[in-house]
Amino acid sequence: MKIQKVGVVGCGLMGHGIAQVAAQGGHDVVVVESDPKALETGLARIDKSLAKIAEKAVEKGTPKEQAEAARAAARARLRGALGLETLADRDLVVEAIVEDLDAKKRLFATLHPLCRTETIFASNTSSFPIAEMARAGGRPRRTLGLHFFNPVQLMKLVEVVRTADTDPDVAAAGFEFAKACGKTPIAAKDTPGFVVNRLLVPFLAEALRMVERGDASAEDVDTAMMLGCGHPMGPITLADYVGLDTTLSILEGWRSRHPQEPVFAVPESLRAKVRAGLTGRKVGQGFYRWQGDKRV
Ligand code: 3HC
Repeated sequence: MKIQKVGVVGCGLMGHGIAQVAAQGGHDVVVVESDPKALETGLARIDKSLAKIAEKAVEKGTPKEQAEAARAAARARLRGALGLETLADRDLVVEAIVEDLDAKKRLFATLHPLCRTETIFASNTSSFPIAEMARAGGRPRRTLGLHFFNPVQLMKLVEVVRTADTDPDVAAAGFEFAKACGKTPIAAKDTPGFVVNRLLVPFLAEALRMVERGDASAEDVDTAMMLGCGHPMGPITLADYVGLDTTLSILEGWRSRHPQEPVFAVPESLRAKVRAGLTGRKVGQGFYRWQGDKRV
């Protein structure tokens, strides 16, 4: 089962990156957005990122024409669209829409009659059960999680998430797709947060609780984990980077499904920031101030 034609639904933070690495990996890609403005913004981000990658390749010794040809070829394999019906002939459709379980279930239910019966459905969800989406999408044997990390162009991991129903050939095709995108896949079960977020999100929450208790300042917690453990970003910077709204919604979702689990408790400072609209990097202010991708 070879994946050649890929559809990505959502051209935001994650979707634009998934569409891009899929095109760089040689796939024919359609990325769908419902809002023309969001599509334009996402495609512009892809153009900027591909240009940066070509520039870095030249710095590392790739001949300029070769780097430019690779950039142009990847871009030519990718197109934007505004309607889901453009996904009818795809081998794989990856959803990267808003982190809302009902919206994802509705999307898969809509896609089911539109797509070929062979089309594999994948979700890039951070934290929702793949099995629930698979049931709503009507093809549980052909549904799996393909969880990419932010920024998709730079982070090398993809979690390939199998439910009890996922066909082993579908999971294997997911592995091959991730590798073709230049990523390292790992196998994960359909448990809350899979591997990475199950460890990462409670860690981010505990860092915030530490600051709330007055044990250390946010800056010192971040410095401690960078210099003491070699993390590229401290946990509070990373929470801002990922999005405080995303972090909050992951924790709240888990909390409602697993109320007894203490590490899923929501820090009050996180709620307060989101309530105030200070959701981190994307709005320029969270626990820190941001200019573009940089903390200031
Ligand atoms: N496309 C192409 N190039 C890019 C790029 C992109 N999207 N983003 C950055 N680059 C380039 C930069 O321009 C820069 O180029 P230069 O060296 O020529 O200036 C180079 O890549 C490195 O970028 P930075 O200067 O920003 O590099 P840093 O060394 O600061 O690394 C980082 C940035 C990779 C984000 C690093 O800080 C990091 O690894 N942080 C942790 C990220 C992380 O943990 N992500 C996972 C989040 S959890 C998640 O996603 C799960 C979700 O479900 C919640």
